[in-house]
Amino acid sequence: MVKIDFSNRLKNLPPYLFAEIDRLKGELKRKGVEFIDLSIGDPDILAPKKVIDILYSSAKKKENQKYSLDQGKLTFRLAVKDWFKHRFKVNLDESKEILPLIGSKEGLVHLPLSLVNRGDYVIVPSPGYPGYRGGAILSEANIYELPLWEENSFLPDLGKIPKSIRNKAKLIYLNYPNNPTTALANKDFLERVIKFCSHYGIILAYDNAYCEIYFEDKPLSILEIEGAKDIAIEFHSLSKTFCMTGFRIGWACGNSNLIAGLLKVKTNIDSGIFCAIQDCAAYALEKERDYIDNLRKIIKERRDIFVNGLKRGGAENIYALSTFYVWVRIPKDFSSSMEFVKYLIKRGVIATAGVGFGNYGEGFVRFALTVNKDKLKKALTIMGTNRN
Ligand SMILES: Cc1ncc(COP(=O)(O)O)c(C=O)c1O
Repeated sequence: MVKIDFSNRLKNLPPYLFAEIDRLKGELKRKGVEFIDLSIGDPDILAPKKVIDILYSSAKKKENQKYSLDQGKLTFRLAVKDWFKHRFKVNLDESKEILPLIGSKEGLVHLPLSLVNRGDYVIVPSPGYPGYRGGAILSEANIYELPLWEENSFLPDLGKIPKSIRNKAKLIYLNYPNNPTTALANKDFLERVIKFCSHYGIILAYDNAYCEIYFEDKPLSILEIEGAKDIAIEFHSLSKTFCMTGFRIGWACGNSNLIAGLLKVKTNIDSGIFCAIQDCAAYALEKERDYIDNLRKIIKERRDIFVNGLKRGGAENIYALSTFYVWVRIPKDFSSSMEFVKYLIKRGVIATAGVGFGNYGEGFVRFALTVNKDKLKKALTIMGTNRN
């Protein structure tokens, strides 16, 4: 047998966070152990019914069964343009400033291929969505892990990034509403980010996948900030907003050169998004605005139940400001987030260890509110009563 010598790029990739959790879940299933899965941000709620109807009728048309254009259907881009204008009061040019994606992860991970040369620095938030790190490694970048400290409301202190890194950094990822910390970013902070990036010539990839999952303050788009279109590209997803994770559709928008670069990478890698998916996604953006209000209500109710339960059980430092996650400090009698997660798994609750989101996630655990109220209450009972 020929020994396969994988590339350094591949060797440098850590095992994907959720792949490891999937493996553990598979083991539990094989053993017939029941568990409550609060690990992955994959909502249990059905996508809008009419979206499925459109998908079905659109899939039957021959023109939709062919390769789609790389830049995506004009109808979908126009739906994005209209939604964006309505939601953020920002004008986007549908021919140059919007690029449909096979889910926002695809664009986030491919972006560095268009920008980064071997050895350039990419700044990734820690804790942060693992896709940023993966994309940077696949582009053979050096990674600077940007700490999001609890004391600073999980916003980075850009002034503390060493000068040597600032001067060599090509790209920075930021994500608010934030996974996993649930933090939000206000206008003042975003203005400082744009100033910083413009000053150092660092491209900003702003991940806004959770912009619709909020409870009080309405999240902003980075493109609402003056000067952002000169330096920023923003990522959106239908996965969370319309519970369409498996459909694989999102988009990038912002600086037209950045969009063109990402498009060039994509035309060499994929052949577009199934047209019927684009049609039903356009419908969701145009017509399912009430669905989002209802989704927020459901998640808020779950959040309140879960957070109150955790408090009653004595948990401290609980964060649940946005997204459908709860980020909470692990109990004092555990020495690491992994140790606590393993303890929970043995009792039938699966959560995600904070360290899986980067070194600065250690000491925390993330619960996803992606199961119904009854299951959440059951998970609370297990966690509250089954200690020791
Ligand atoms: C912060 C963040 N960004 C992006 C994504 C990717 O979403 P999708 O590729 O489904 O659009 C996720 C998925 O969990 C996420 O948490």
